[in-house]
Amino acid sequence: MERKDLGIAVVGAGRIGGLRARLAAEHPAVRYLAISDADPARARALAEKTGAQFHSGDNAAIIARPEVNAVIISSSEGAHVESLVQAIEVGKPVLVEKPIALNLADADRVIRAAERAGTSVRVGYSRRYKERYLIAKEQIAQGRLGRIVGGAARVFNLRSQATAILERNPHATPVVDALTYYVDLMNWLLEGTAVKEVFARGQKGVLRDAGFDTEDVSYAILTYADGAVVNLGIAYSLPDKYPARGHAARVEVLGTGGVMILDDDHTDKLMYSEKGVPHVYLPDQPVNMVFLQSGTPGDWALGDFWGPVANETRAWLDHLAVGKPCVLATAREARATLEVTLAIEHSSATGKPVTLPLAG
Ligand SMILES: NC(=O)c1ccc[n+]([C@@H]2O[C@H](COP(=O)([O-])OP(=O)(O)OC[C@H]3O[C@@H](n4cnc5c(N)ncnc54)[C@H](O)[C@@H]3O)[C@@H](O)[C@H]2O)c1
Repeated sequence: MERKDLGIAVVGAGRIGGLRARLAAEHPAVRYLAISDADPARARALAEKTGAQFHSGDNAAIIARPEVNAVIISSSEGAHVESLVQAIEVGKPVLVEKPIALNLADADRVIRAAERAGTSVRVGYSRRYKERYLIAKEQIAQGRLGRIVGGAARVFNLRSQATAILERNPHATPVVDALTYYVDLMNWLLEGTAVKEVFARGQKGVLRDAGFDTEDVSYAILTYADGAVVNLGIAYSLPDKYPARGHAARVEVLGTGGVMILDDDHTDKLMYSEKGVPHVYLPDQPVNMVFLQSGTPGDWALGDFWGPVANETRAWLDHLAVGKPCVLATAREARATLEVTLAIEHSSATGKPVTLPLAG
């Protein structure tokens, strides 16, 4: 088997960039690591923690390093596009966090650049690498459910997580930034068809009172070209002491020959601690009760990181190093997902169904 050495640039040294950099540093094919952040002190701190050879406040400087042959973009949602185009133009394959961009014009710019340069762009829809969903995909691929005719997915999270995301980018609403995972998941499970109509309703309250003009709760019905119907729901407005530490979800898939019910609320893994557990976004406000394993990226245990972002990062690095197939979303799939989330917001704002493709 041919094995390729990797030099990885990680753009964005925040929560997820920190995880990806540590996972890359420990991967056997990775020989070189470079880290950048708009805040150079963060880049330096993460470089020291991971043993990276180079760090900078300038993303282009790490992407251009001759030792670097692949790029991870983990900057905040509104900052992906510029680094994406820089990496694409020098022909270095990219793993970028979701959403690929915050509007369709930027997503199209990325796709055009990638197709022109022949550079691979994969998007970190890490639900695909949560084992229960990988195994669900396998059942569908084996034909055990027959033809998929419908489904549902609902996700809950805490209001502090919504406000943390909205503070760094007001366009990264719960629908565009978080329900997006379940749009991607459903599109992936229903591979071969595409959403043609979206209808949505929502209500504002807690998040609006906190200064963000976005819905507390949104429900949508998607109709696919083959007639399949999917119901999606999100509430990123739960009180901060609710025990979920990230996504608490439930997913159902209905076929002509069977049904799958994927309980992802984590209510079966309960811990109460008098000592308290640090809150992800409010570290100085520990909580007593948690649903273990409900953290979206995964969890630390016994010195290593386990869960969707670990599986996904290793799968992408293995793909580059030894050519193993990986199921990360492509740029075109991520663009289709972005379009659905924008259509949900549009339908909810106008009260009318929205037909895809969206104009402009
Ligand atoms: N797959 C998952 O489980 C998962 C979970 C959370 C977040 N995410 C995604 O990961 C990305 C980062 O989220 P996070 O929670 O790590 O955010 P974060 O705020 O912790 O980190 C973002 C970092 O990007 C830096 N940054 C901002 N603009 C930059 C620029 N132009 N160039 C370089 N660095 C810049 C910030 O200084 C910060 O250090 C987002 O796209 C988010 O949607 C994915």
